[in-house]
Amino acid sequence: MEKIVVTGGTKLKGEVTIGGAKNSATAILPATILMSGKCTLENVPNISDIKIICNILESLGAKIDWIEQNKLTIDTSNISSSNAPLDKTSKFRASYYLVGALLGKYHSAEVGLPGGCNLGARPIDQHIKGFEALGATVEVEQGKISAKAKKLVGNSIYLDVVSVGATINLMLASVLAEGTTIIDNPAKEPHIVDVANFLNSVGADIRGAGTDSIKINGVKELKKEGTYSIVPDQIEAGTFMLSAVASKGDITIKNCITKHLESLTAKIVEMGANVEDIDGETIRVWCNSRPNKLNIKTLPHPGFPTDLQPQMGVVLSTANGTSIINESIWESRFQYTAELNKMGAKITAQGKTAVFEGVKKLYGSPVYSTDLRAGAALIIAAIAAEGTTEIYNLEYIDRGYENIEEKFRKLGANIKRVKE
Ligand code: UD1
Repeated sequence: MEKIVVTGGTKLKGEVTIGGAKNSATAILPATILMSGKCTLENVPNISDIKIICNILESLGAKIDWIEQNKLTIDTSNISSSNAPLDKTSKFRASYYLVGALLGKYHSAEVGLPGGCNLGARPIDQHIKGFEALGATVEVEQGKISAKAKKLVGNSIYLDVVSVGATINLMLASVLAEGTTIIDNPAKEPHIVDVANFLNSVGADIRGAGTDSIKINGVKELKKEGTYSIVPDQIEAGTFMLSAVASKGDITIKNCITKHLESLTAKIVEMGANVEDIDGETIRVWCNSRPNKLNIKTLPHPGFPTDLQPQMGVVLSTANGTSIINESIWESRFQYTAELNKMGAKITAQGKTAVFEGVKKLYGSPVYSTDLRAGAALIIAAIAAEGTTEIYNLEYIDRGYENIEEKFRKLGANIKRVKE
């Protein structure tokens, strides 16, 4: 078993470079199935979720070569199966993109139900409703989703809830469908736009990604070759921004898109810390005093992202005054608060609301990651705390952050990974 050991009390200082977006790469890799060709992907995060999707794609017949730490080629011209078994897909959430891509390309998909972090109920009714609207028959039974269609025909689909997964999956399923598909009330996250940009770069005709309505004009086939660079990870950038505030440090974050960070930037400024947008791709965050209390409600983009809620929770746990977070996306996203309370925080979480009574200091303690972003939040808490913290359940953190200890170490943190 591995643990991360942090001796806290460091004011983080220096520069950090952000990698490619996990939630974009986990969709673009399956999207290459639609090409039946060879694609070079750059700025691919080298994290365990990506290794899992690569492994599943290889078991379907794709050939993947990592050319560099963050660059790979994938050749999907010899995919020989549209059946992705449960033992692999249950390891992560984005395996549902295999359904959209395989259905779109081969009109048939059999995929084990997706796994991923336990953030509460994670229904896929909107994905299914959309596949059916395109003409597919979908069955969910015995731990798998099966989707089949004689042909797929474009249709108008209104999403009842704003869903990242359903929006991307319906783009994947409709790119090669006959006619035009309209997705109304889609998600607008930067990775939605990135997946559309990738697909358009290899010959798809998708318009309006990032707006309230996406129009997909079906094309007969995609190009057999392409090269694409994944967008920077907005959540990784936000994690480092909040670590600067929590540790009262001064960090310059490179290779991010500052426009994607506006909702977080506004809240950091409201807390009394400082943010400088240097050139649209570099942002500096520094904090000299105890942050002010504030209230937050997580919302789909461009609202405050749920995936930064735990990291913000760490900052609010030592803010001046009492803050409230309302979590509107995932019902079980406050599990980390019990871990922070072990470190001296005073947080009361009930249902979708948590009340953070700001304390002066956190103290080191053994704690457990309860999900991916909770794990990142605990690292930030440990760096800001007095004393030594041991963080367990690292498999969650490794799903979404590449070299996280090394990046924090370069910023001055006393952090190491230890095998027990
Ligand atoms: C993605 C991200 C996750 C992030 C979330 C919200 C990936 C791999 N994961 O998850 O990190 O927290 O977006 O930004 O990209 N819902 C339904 N029916 C559906 C689909 C979703 O009711 O068919 C609900 C969910 O229960 C949730 C909300 O819609 O309350 C948003 O879910 P969704 O955007 O689909 O999240 P994911 O794509 O699973």
